[in-house]
Amino acid sequence: MSSTEPAPGTVALIGVGRIGEMHAALLLAHPLVERLVLAGSTPERAEALAGRLGCDWATVEAIFDETNPLGIDAVAIATSTATHADLLIRCAEAGLPVFCEKPIGLDLDEARAAQRALEDAGVPHHIGFQRRFDAGYSAARDLLASGELGELRRFHAVTGDHVPPTPDYIPDSGGIFLDAGVHDFDIIRWVTGREVVEVYTTGSARGMKEFAEHDDLSDAVTILTLDDGTVGTAHVSRYNGQGHEVRLDLMGTDGSANVGLDAKVPFRSTEPGVDFPPDEPWYDFIERFRPCYERELDHFLRHPAQGLPGACSAADAVEALRIALTCRRSSLERRAVRVAEL
Ligand SMILES: NC(=O)c1ccc[n+]([C@@H]2O[C@H](COP(=O)([O-])OP(=O)(O)OC[C@H]3O[C@@H](n4cnc5c(N)ncnc54)[C@H](O)[C@@H]3O)[C@@H](O)[C@H]2O)c1
Repeated sequence: MSSTEPAPGTVALIGVGRIGEMHAALLLAHPLVERLVLAGSTPERAEALAGRLGCDWATVEAIFDETNPLGIDAVAIATSTATHADLLIRCAEAGLPVFCEKPIGLDLDEARAAQRALEDAGVPHHIGFQRRFDAGYSAARDLLASGELGELRRFHAVTGDHVPPTPDYIPDSGGIFLDAGVHDFDIIRWVTGREVVEVYTTGSARGMKEFAEHDDLSDAVTILTLDDGTVGTAHVSRYNGQGHEVRLDLMGTDGSANVGLDAKVPFRSTEPGVDFPPDEPWYDFIERFRPCYERELDHFLRHPAQGLPGACSAADAVEALRIALTCRRSSLERRAVRVAEL
């Protein structure tokens, strides 16, 4: 796949779990994917999925074999978060354009090492913050930039999973801020064009015992301050009973706007005579964001060179991770923490 003229090619997808299965189907349906090769830490699972979808499978080692016997042109990574930084570095060393699921890593050192490797090698890369490809978030960003809302003074972000992840997912997830809240931190930066400078976070670990056992939280609220003094909150929950809820409210001096208040928003109005929303609530992230996952992969395949609207660089992903880690420190130390401390 050349960086200027996208041509059909061979894509390797590493990681065939929950989201990897969806990415496999999307990649296979893409006109620029001539051949899809699946790989994972459990080869039988990659083989079984390849059999169901009618594509190829291989070992992770074969994908990174320096003679490139499989003719791989690009890699998509959908493995557990702990493996992202290492796999990104392997792609950089192999000179392979790479799409990688969020977050970029579990700690800042490994994430920065991956960023450096990708930048030094000049390898096209894209970290999967799919909200950047959502029509509502894009419109909010444009509205704010147009000045129609006046000066942004406050914001309120919400990420509520309908059902919690399975107990085995929790220990390797990086915790609620790296796994879920990181989407809000990325999109707040992207929509506002500002940096987060300080957070104060508090939360609780209710429901499954695995949250507390792994120093994780089931519900958390963060107060964020941006570098121009704008203040806002981010609510993150693993137990949002009404459905999968993702929203962003923007309150400016001349007007307010909302992302996510659509016909399927998981909210009931208690006002007499108000029958809203009309439809069944969103069930999960795959239902809510499937078109965005499709658009981000299309963007990656068509525009491997960085700098196009919506592409998320490793540098952006490192910053979102830094905010998430600052939230974790704030909740553990029960104090407001400057992002620059990390
Ligand atoms: N963008 C989003 O909205 C979104 C949603 C869900 C998950 N994710 C991200 O996607 C990643 C995977 O999440 P999931 O829910 O699919 O998890 P999962 O546990 O269902 O799947 C992870 C897969 O990675 C494989 N794997 C682990 N280590 C590996 C290695 N070293 N080499 C090859 N394969 C390996 C596992 O065998 C498993 O099949 C996580 O980083 C998560 O944060 C993103």
